[in-house]
Amino acid sequence: MSNSLPGLRGGAVMSVAAWSLCATGVAVSQSSAPVSFTKDVIPILKERCLACHGESQRQAGLDLRTRDAMLKGGDNGPAIVPGDAIESRLYRRISGLEAPVMPMDGEISESEILTIRDWINQGAAIRGAQETATVDADLLQYVSRREGSCV
Ligand code: HEC
Repeated sequence: MSNSLPGLRGGAVMSVAAWSLCATGVAVSQSSAPVSFTKDVIPILKERCLACHGESQRQAGLDLRTRDAMLKGGDNGPAIVPGDAIESRLYRRISGLEAPVMPMDGEISESEILTIRDWINQGAAIRGAQETATVDADLLQYVSRREGSCV
């Protein structure tokens, strides 16, 4: 029966750890298996971002439905710099390197942040004919409020 880490303290330690990870832009290097735009990236954007950066709203002039639209970017320029997540505003905003942190009023998990980071670092690639560069309009309506580790 070990009570060496009371729940409250354990919780506080976890929060600080999650906060530091986010605040430093998830600088920890991780394995980066090839990321699929269609299978891995689009579902994250649909769930976390497109309510405000898609068909019905373009906050900051930014449309995140296609790779081309990300390259064009928003009011402050391109959202992605292929091959360089750290220089990409989209990554800077979700990782906490640049404020205000995205998704605004929402949540995104650490693994989702790492998926997007790896995709950008891999050249923001769209591989092969089965990969689509466009998000289906009929899937834009939902924004989940699932628990994330960075809020
Ligand atoms: C609830 C609405 C909302 C959601 C959801 C949201 N954003 Fe935003 N986003 C905004 C607003 C508002 C701004 C402008 C804020 C500012 O820069 O002062 C903005 C600005 C941005 C910018 C800066 C664009 C520019 O050129 O200035 C980026 C990049 C961005 N968002 C990425 C994302 C990403 C990636 C997600 C999903 C993980 C996301 N946003 C989710 C509302 C939202």
